[in-house]
Amino acid sequence: MKTLMLKADQTDQAAKIIKNGGLVAIPTETVYGLAADALNGKAVAKIFEAKGRPMDNPLIVHIADVSQVDRLVSEFPPKAQKLARTFWPGPLTIILPKSEIIPDEVSAGLDTVAIRLPLHKTARELIAKSSPLAAPSANLSGSPSPTNARHVAQDMNGRIDAIIEGGECEVGVESTVITLATDPPRLLRPGGITVEQLREVIGEVEIDDAVLHPLAKGQKAASPGMKYKHYSPKANVILLRGNSGLFADYINARRTENAVVLCYTEDLGFLKLPCIPMGKSNDYAQHAHKLFASLRIADDGGFATVYAHCPGTKGEELAVYNRIIRAAGFEVVDLEK
Ligand code: TXA
Ligand code: MG
Repeated sequence: MKTLMLKADQTDQAAKIIKNGGLVAIPTETVYGLAADALNGKAVAKIFEAKGRPMDNPLIVHIADVSQVDRLVSEFPPKAQKLARTFWPGPLTIILPKSEIIPDEVSAGLDTVAIRLPLHKTARELIAKSSPLAAPSANLSGSPSPTNARHVAQDMNGRIDAIIEGGECEVGVESTVITLATDPPRLLRPGGITVEQLREVIGEVEIDDAVLHPLAKGQKAASPGMKYKHYSPKANVILLRGNSGLFADYINARRTENAVVLCYTEDLGFLKLPCIPMGKSNDYAQHAHKLFASLRIADDGGFATVYAHCPGTKGEELAVYNRIIRAAGFEVVDLEK
């Protein structure tokens, strides 16, 4: 299959492909998505094939206006409406009991559906011209999510109908996922909207175990995506916890061959290895923005080892922690000890 490269103003052409049951990769403010008509089960099935995604991992349905929610769900409770009013359009996905029109391919057999109203203008324009779009991240299953059209082409060229070029994704990590199908509501995946922000609006929000810890053997994932090895570059990721000085000393002492460091601005000049700068140590939005692109740079450079700082687990830091701790197989070297 030849994959068309479309400009951001060619949403008419993209809408035609979607209406014909095809697949189009689209920019969003979080990461690029691989979109199909969410109400066409056959089209949605092609997404799983193109990504090599396990069929039991459900997809997010993207809408262009809050008025589209009612048809997709059997219930839109007040707390969900409040979240929608506060954070949409934006990087928040809300899980609700689904309506009958949601194909099984979208919900992977669950009785719920995940819904998000993205901020990116191109995404919303395409949805308005076609239909609600089912869209997972536009990477091959298991590799880092794509944050520009080049990353998408690396993984998907020849496997999908078209890619819309829409520049760099601003947030850089996938949306925050919260379920309101349980009481109290529960955070399933951290992202650009923090759990603290969610609590400010609707009160109690639990954090699902799988956000911070590996699933125990036999434990069922509330969000099926959490059980798969995710966000992993080919390189071995080693996370270090400790201040800048200890960080540089540890890495310099080892002189690991073929290694690269995801470093903060403050580390520059102290490390004897190649570095990929992630921004200032307290610029958490920048760390998220650069995370997946940096992991791809490490892989493209053929590096075997990636050293990185271990982020904290509060506020904006949780989103990066959740991804990088998986890439590191949940292991952290504590330099203070
Ligand atoms: O920012 C994003 O959310 C991006 C862009 C394209 O919008 N999309 C994205 O989709 O990250 P995906 O498929 O890579 O991640 C969706 C996550 C998965 O972990 C999946 O298991 C979970 O959401 N999910 C989807 N529907 C669910 C449901 N009904 N119940 C529980 N988890 C669900
Ligand atoms: Mg994904």
